[in-house]
Amino acid sequence: MTRLLTAGQMKAIEGAAIDSGAVTGLQLMECAGQGVVDAILEEWPELGKIGVSNASGQKAKGSFGAVVLCGPGNNGGDGLVVARLLKAQGWTVKVFLFGDPDKLPPDARVNYEKWRQLGPVGDLTAKDALGGIAEPDLIIDAIFGTGLVRRIEGVLAQVLQSLDALILRKAVRVVAIDTPSGLCADSGKSLGTYSGADLTVAFHSAKRGHYLNCGAEKSGRLLVKPIGLDEIWNERAEGPIVELAQGVPQSVGKTTQTHKYSYGHALILSGGAGKTGAARLAARGALRIGAGLVTLGVPPAAQMEVASQVTAIMLKRVEGADHLSEVLQDERLNAVCLGPGLGVERARDLVPATLQAKRATVLDADALTPFADDPSVLFTNLHENCVLTPHAGEFARLFPDIAEKLTAMPEKGPAFSKVDATQEAAMRAGCVILFKGPDTVIAAPDGQCAINAALYARTAPWLATAGAGDVLAGFVTGLLARGLTPMQAAGVAAWLHVECARIFGPGLIAEDLPEQLPLVLKSLNF
Ligand code: ACO
Repeated sequence: MTRLLTAGQMKAIEGAAIDSGAVTGLQLMECAGQGVVDAILEEWPELGKIGVSNASGQKAKGSFGAVVLCGPGNNGGDGLVVARLLKAQGWTVKVFLFGDPDKLPPDARVNYEKWRQLGPVGDLTAKDALGGIAEPDLIIDAIFGTGLVRRIEGVLAQVLQSLDALILRKAVRVVAIDTPSGLCADSGKSLGTYSGADLTVAFHSAKRGHYLNCGAEKSGRLLVKPIGLDEIWNERAEGPIVELAQGVPQSVGKTTQTHKYSYGHALILSGGAGKTGAARLAARGALRIGAGLVTLGVPPAAQMEVASQVTAIMLKRVEGADHLSEVLQDERLNAVCLGPGLGVERARDLVPATLQAKRATVLDADALTPFADDPSVLFTNLHENCVLTPHAGEFARLFPDIAEKLTAMPEKGPAFSKVDATQEAAMRAGCVILFKGPDTVIAAPDGQCAINAALYARTAPWLATAGAGDVLAGFVTGLLARGLTPMQAAGVAAWLHVECARIFGPGLIAEDLPEQLPLVLKSLNF
């Protein structure tokens, strides 16, 4: 399991380890600095090579240069360790500090003194401090880590603007220690950060902010390094620990000695004539992900249209709510999906009948809209086997107060994150919420929460295309029919969805997603 921590959880883990005497703050800081140097050489091995010929256009070891920007806290202390370790490898290193060295926390102060025996320290806020830097190979951003507590303003904001100017000229590579300065470690919101690091080195565990909001984009490549903290200290972290939704459990494979009914029967309810495409996409997604049987529930006027477009997918006439209740008498229909192309009026009619039947149910798109005026009508009927899959607009209609907190940018303190928002929504709705977006978050009412590791903003931007959400709803429904729990089904579906897009590549349209799935599953040895 890959866990993602908040700044508070990380602080509690470090504090517990230090208090127990198992490790000192200085040791953690030394390990962090070493981790950064190791990560740099892992990412750019050419920076560690001895005797690379200048004639080939590369520098020889000893002629590399780094500028280390240190802040007033322990993140600055990590930077001072990096400065010392790079210097020991023959690098030319310049250090700038923000604030009064006498006010550095004790461990950072020790490392300041050690560095002072090796070189000078410039004032980071001196006019044009960064302007005078002649093409260093790296800039190390050790201004703020997880201790950022408010928006970056004034002279420091100008420093970050100068840094941006260097980055935009592509004059430097930036390595951020723990987080790019100005990025909220809990929410991934920008509290005045710059355009982004090339490499971010986090410690012990990644933080939620590396994945949420603009965190993935600003962090660049993320490497996590151990700093000697034993796993037992994780128990000291308060509050739920968020996981990365990643990979596919073996139970998604099919085995011999089974038949189609062993893998469930999904019912996807379609809209009327001319509006059946979305439900057909969902149905194809459900079938490809392995539901044994998939039936489209179609109003009479749309039957011909659908029949001419599907083959392995079956058709059943479903008119209004009474008719649907009759259809759901068939116990073998064990998962239902409503929303894609359904139409708001048909959704208003069919959603209550579906929820009464207590099947595993996915509510997407139009199925979420009729309840915007009074969402409590929906919430009282939802049950633990439901998954809601809103995008940001649908989420704001169902949970306006939570959405407002999410978009607010507090001047101080940790910002309310998409994880907080999804967890609060799941508790209120009493079921799993898959909150879609470039940073999809999935939460259950019991506190389980995951962020999709495959972030489409970073890996597959071409997923932003019409109908992609319908296929995702189909993937979740198919996995529910297969018997996965709502939390598992949502997590696996979200991850596979982006994997399909990533592997397909540019030019993707929604129809390609189910067709790509066999290749993705095959590459995972299913
Ligand atoms: N503008 C100006 N100042 C700000 C702003 C802002 N927007 N935001 C925060 N600050 C100040 C804070 O007030 C604080 O200064 P203060 O102590 O004078 O109040 C300082 O910036 C804190 O910034 P950070 O260096 O980011 O936070 P912290 O000191 O908590 O260090 C840490 C973060 C522990 C290094 C974290 O990133 C981490 O866990 N790294 C792992 C490796 C490590 O080095 N661990 C050991 C640390 S030593 C120890 O634990 C005792």
